[in-house]
Amino acid sequence: MQIIYQMENKYSSVKPIIDNSLPQVFIETYGCQMNVSDSEVVLSVLQKAGYALCHSIEQADVILVNTCSIRDNAEQRIWGRLDVFLQEKKKRKGIIVGILGCMAERLKNELLQHPAVDVVAGPDSYRDIARLISALSSGEKQINTILSHEETYADITPVRMDKNGVSAFISIMRGCNNMCSYCVVPYVRGAERSRDPHSIVREAQELFNNGYKEVTLLGQNVDSYKWTNPENPTESVNFAQLLELVALVDPTLRVRFSTSHPKDMGNGVLYTMAMYPNICNHIHLPVQSGSDPMLLKMNRKYTREKYMERVAKIREILPDCAITTDIIAGFCSETEQDHQDTLSLMKEVCYDSAFMFQYSLRPNTKAARHFVDDVPLAEKTRRLNEIIELQNSHSLACNQKTVGNIYQVLIEGTSKRSQEQLIGRTPQNKTCVFDAKGHKIGDYVYVKVLSCTSATLIAEIVEDEAIDKKLGFNEIRKDIKEMFNNLINIKNDKN
Ligand code: 5AD
Ligand code: SF4
Repeated sequence: MQIIYQMENKYSSVKPIIDNSLPQVFIETYGCQMNVSDSEVVLSVLQKAGYALCHSIEQADVILVNTCSIRDNAEQRIWGRLDVFLQEKKKRKGIIVGILGCMAERLKNELLQHPAVDVVAGPDSYRDIARLISALSSGEKQINTILSHEETYADITPVRMDKNGVSAFISIMRGCNNMCSYCVVPYVRGAERSRDPHSIVREAQELFNNGYKEVTLLGQNVDSYKWTNPENPTESVNFAQLLELVALVDPTLRVRFSTSHPKDMGNGVLYTMAMYPNICNHIHLPVQSGSDPMLLKMNRKYTREKYMERVAKIREILPDCAITTDIIAGFCSETEQDHQDTLSLMKEVCYDSAFMFQYSLRPNTKAARHFVDDVPLAEKTRRLNEIIELQNSHSLACNQKTVGNIYQVLIEGTSKRSQEQLIGRTPQNKTCVFDAKGHKIGDYVYVKVLSCTSATLIAEIVEDEAIDKKLGFNEIRKDIKEMFNNLINIKNDKN
């Protein structure tokens, strides 16, 4: 088997083709990183069909909205947007509005009935998007919400819509099999499937060849990534191996990943991270709750003790690894004691940062069918606020520990406050602000942290040859690379 590094044709450019002589499409994306990645697949499909990207609703012939269903407030925002699009349709006859993503999959015809909506397309129907749009000429609204067991869009080169040309997402799998009782994702994104690693490595290489310096591998549960060669079922690749393959693309390509699942995150991933300096030391490890009865009810398939054992292993193998998490406040029948258990777990771990939510009932999930959403709203809010307040103090404490340290930072943009200042992230995913000193977006620099807030490190660039040797990218050991390539029988034609 060979990995072939080549562009398929001019449409597999990683950047959007801007051409206002072509039909114009505007894509608005809500929700998670996976949706951002999916919108890039949609743009790729539409570019091949002769559309070009535009940057405002007013210019668009086709407006697409990639939607999120994870909590009710995410859906309410979209309903609000539909009213705005309806106004635009009244002003400019003939424009087309399509709803993509999780909400399209969940609500199907209910969305199609909205007067603003012409097309509804679920997450596995993006190859069909150009046909759906052109079929509108029949006078009928169009819908495709068929979920697939195989679709990974492996052969489609996403067209990147990021502004900086430095960091990109790569989707490595789709769907989810975990069935956490509160979660709508398995219903709207279907069963889990892993993408062919050759196509993942090829995409990472292509991004690197086009000047990208960082890739983030995306999956709902990256630790359950498993690809088996359909031509040779004895040959398979797990997540640790995939991570290594991507890290081997180039020592100066940073590799990140999200999301890890505490029940599946094995030591292999941690050792691989330790082996490769270009795999960033940051693990997003959602805990959801610190209480065993809640974890059981959420169907998370780990206990607090098991979770803490994973955290201890991270700290042992990767002492400077940042750990971040997701927490849900006020899940069904959560008691004050359960809530206190969450706070005490947070104190034990001291997360670098966290995404924190109130439980939001999602129709037809296991929790909606079997449990009562019985924590009063005011109580959910109080508990969430306590969680946020505690986390803010932990974020600040974690950041304070970095003051005086030197980190390698990839420059990703200019500061909102001043053009003279740049922003970038440390391997631990902490945002740094520092004076530009002649450096530019896409450069790696070393910075010393001078002070911090709970959200940002304030730093200065240090230029010292000695530092480069200590903290820089080491050459990837050729012998390891060769051993690994032989192990999974993938030959990289650049070697
Ligand atoms: N209510 C609140 N938060 C939720 N999440 C998932 N489903 C729900 C829900 N019904 C959160 C979890 C998950 C993150 C992506 O969103 O914390 O990890
Ligand atoms: Fe939802 Fe659980 Fe799957 Fe995450 S792992 S997407 S929370 S079902």
